[in-house]
Amino acid sequence: MNRPAPSVPVLATQNSAKTLVATGAPGLDDVVAAETRLSHVDGAAGILIVRGHHLHQMSDWRFEQVLELLWRDLAPEVTSAGEISARLGRARIRAFEIMQPLLPGIDGLTSVEALRLLLSALPDAETFAHHIMAVAAVPVFAAAIARRQKGMGPVLPDPQAGHAADFLQMLHGAPAAADQVRALDTYLVTVADHGLNASTFAARVIASTKAGLFSSVVGALCALKGPLHGGAPGPVLDMLDAIGEEAQIKAWLAEALDRGERLMGFGHRIYRVRDPRADVLKGAVGALRDGSGRIAFAEKVEAAALQQLKEKKPLRPLQTNVEFYTALVLEAVGFPRDSFTNVFAAGRMAGWTAHVLEQEATGRLIRPQSAYIGPMPV
Ligand code: ACO
Repeated sequence: MNRPAPSVPVLATQNSAKTLVATGAPGLDDVVAAETRLSHVDGAAGILIVRGHHLHQMSDWRFEQVLELLWRDLAPEVTSAGEISARLGRARIRAFEIMQPLLPGIDGLTSVEALRLLLSALPDAETFAHHIMAVAAVPVFAAAIARRQKGMGPVLPDPQAGHAADFLQMLHGAPAAADQVRALDTYLVTVADHGLNASTFAARVIASTKAGLFSSVVGALCALKGPLHGGAPGPVLDMLDAIGEEAQIKAWLAEALDRGERLMGFGHRIYRVRDPRADVLKGAVGALRDGSGRIAFAEKVEAAALQQLKEKKPLRPLQTNVEFYTALVLEAVGFPRDSFTNVFAAGRMAGWTAHVLEQEATGRLIRPQSAYIGPMPV
């Protein structure tokens, strides 16, 4: 898309970097705003590297392993994935205790608003125990929120269980099948970190002010909530439901695009080819073989959407993004669609906490400038 030049000239005192932002990139496209050792996204090649590992090399990892990888060197207390798992288990119990008296306060809120409220109750501090608590708390809160919205009480965490297994157990009130735990682990690993996405940037900006860990991750959650970032997978299922049957696919998509609507689960600010996370998640959901025909139907919708996006938006390469198959994985393991953003937050908390640690090690306040385009005093 060609962006129009601003209607007034950029101030002459600005250097070229500031001019770039002012004249050509209202969404900070292509602006490098941080150095990181955590993850790298190559949008042209469709590659995601997490601390030296291609995403596809990590598709059978447990979530605790990616935490160990991301926190390694940034937190001296990090020893092994097993130790992290044990500490997470104890922290889930503590998070449950903190949550219980607060639960009535979430009534009437959406799932992500409820998570925002509960996370906000945790005090800011900079010890590694708080990073553990941030990761431990989200599944406890998210599961309890989902159950309360169905009129059910929260399920006590099992400190001995793996993080993904306990998440499903707290959601369903019974141990989940091994293939479901495996699929959720793959999902949590897949979304754990992804360069300087909007929510991670928000976390780093807040951390750079020394506001504290929970302020940083609550800010990140607020950024994640929007449908242009982490709020899309629920609407992906809404779209599949609205299409309904195979005979309707082409007409439904064409009408939506003709109305100027965006197809949820397609397009990305960075990727110009297929999002590598989409294939990893497609593999995870394929392994579940739920027999409902949902996946086969979704594949047909995906193929038709890609074809129509190519025809109707020829200047913009629009491919499947992570949210399309996220929706199918999370539906298949039993999460209600209203809770999908909270499950995303459970995985992305790994990256947010690591970026906060990295930002604090850098220690520089993030404070860019704006280009003033208003009137000058007479
Ligand atoms: N469906 C239809 N058209 C689209 C889509 C889409 N999903 N995505 C972009 N476009 C079109 C825009 O309408 C625009 O067309 P125009 O030039 O004719 O006006 C063009 O592509 C460029 O759009 P931008 O807004 O400049 O693209 P941007 O890089 O800002 O968008 C975004 C990225 C926000 C993800 C976008 O593709 C979108 O809204 N997708 C749908 C929502 C979604 O799937 N969100 C999850 C993203 S993944 C994640 O954050 C974890």
